[in-house]
Amino acid sequence: MADEQTQREDGDGGVATAQDSLSITDNRTGETYEVEVSDGTVRAMDFRDIKVSEDDFGLMTYDPAFTNTASCRSSITFIDGAEGILEYRGYPIEQLCEKSSYLEVAYLLIYGELPSREQLDQWVFEITHHTYVHENIKKFVEGFRHDAHPMGMLLGTVGALSTFYPDAKNIDDDQERHMAAIRLIAKMPTLAAFAYRHNLGLPYVYPDNDLSYPGDFLSMMYKMTEVKYEPDPRLERALDVLWILHADHEQNCSTNAVRGVGSSQVDPYSAVAAGVAALYGPLHGGANESAVRMLERIGSVDNIPDFLESVKNREEKLMGFGHRIYKNYDPRARIIKKHVEDVLEVTGSNPKLEIATELEKRALDDDYFTERKLYPNVDFYSGLIYEALNLPKDMFTVMFAIPRTSGWVAQWREMLDDEETKIARPRQIYTGAGERDYEPVDGREQRVETPSGTDQTNTVNPAA
Ligand code: ACO
Repeated sequence: MADEQTQREDGDGGVATAQDSLSITDNRTGETYEVEVSDGTVRAMDFRDIKVSEDDFGLMTYDPAFTNTASCRSSITFIDGAEGILEYRGYPIEQLCEKSSYLEVAYLLIYGELPSREQLDQWVFEITHHTYVHENIKKFVEGFRHDAHPMGMLLGTVGALSTFYPDAKNIDDDQERHMAAIRLIAKMPTLAAFAYRHNLGLPYVYPDNDLSYPGDFLSMMYKMTEVKYEPDPRLERALDVLWILHADHEQNCSTNAVRGVGSSQVDPYSAVAAGVAALYGPLHGGANESAVRMLERIGSVDNIPDFLESVKNREEKLMGFGHRIYKNYDPRARIIKKHVEDVLEVTGSNPKLEIATELEKRALDDDYFTERKLYPNVDFYSGLIYEALNLPKDMFTVMFAIPRTSGWVAQWREMLDDEETKIARPRQIYTGAGERDYEPVDGREQRVETPSGTDQTNTVNPAA
């Protein structure tokens, strides 16, 4: 299997033939074992039969970071990285971005099929009417420091939702699952906008049920003294498309976190909070910010040749280029690029777009990048849209968390319905000390160095 591709089911589902199996000879014992190959995959548990003696635990597989391990079967998102294909439930991302809306896509991801007109209207109505948060959540946000990172605030408030909807712990109840999906998708933009306004010291703006999902978000972010905020349709559409593009991306770090934590059967708000935490990390949700900072550093088109030279000399990284899965143009980057121009038409030009366009052109003309299959990824251009919306860089990852919520919920539901789901619990290879006797503290030697916090201890202000 090409490592850049989601493995598609081969559909045989039957007994393995000689060709569908792997013969393994254990050179420790001379024994040969037949292991079934299905969907281009072997089951790690089959290796446990491979033992040197009756009381041997059996062979394990070692795969830190799951780089070659399928952790689940999933029918939500298909990616072919070599060809640059991304599909949700079989629908190409290009068609969804052109013809659908984020809320319709959220329904598709969660319920598996596109909704009928009636179902879509009902879905949009329900989401629109659950966008308010309990007033105590507002007080909770007020408790954060003025400069609190908005992702930290989002992480806290999403987790706190579980205490407002305790019945969500009934995870086998279809109605509760549905309500959790509605509430999470509906309230995420409200929580994000409250975090943003908290940083600015501005009063929070309550949701406006007359507006579309992205239009309401823009209102909660930017409304000032006007009686009614009227979002520009080009901004609404660009945001909607951006959110379709970010809605799911199969078993990435945050989705794996949601599934892993959710496998303990905790409520969905707590599981999704785990996803927010994973997305917070710079290796996951933070690359769009680095791409904009890089464009800032380059400063002008004239500096591009020197910058590319420093990338080739490995002094710099071309942020927003390259992808673990896509070894071709990231299909999401192509779609976003079209919308950057629409947004800039509304917000005014940004010299970084000229730098980005020229940088892309020159990199794609250069063997160094093409030989390594380095193409722009989704983050090369998304940061420019966020910047054009005047968002501080701290908010970029929050903008990713809002739409990824539907993917997390879809994956959480699929995990619960999978008969093979058990609590996620990997194995380890123990590398520590052998058994030893406890020694009383007096007379015990110091064996390790620990950093000291004494210098930082503030007896005047213990909260510091
Ligand atoms: N700039 C310069 N060289 C690069 C880049 C880059 N952005 N990405 C990869 N390379 C080079 C590597 O140095 C390596 O070269 P070598 O074989 O001569 O040593 C080769 O290309 C292969 O790269 P790998 O590191 O094997 O690729 P990997 O799949 O491990 O990494 C990653 C993928 C982390 C995304 C990487 O391309 C990168 O760091 N890109 C910049 C950060 C970025 O844009 N991340 C966003 C990803 S999209 C998302 O998460 C939503």
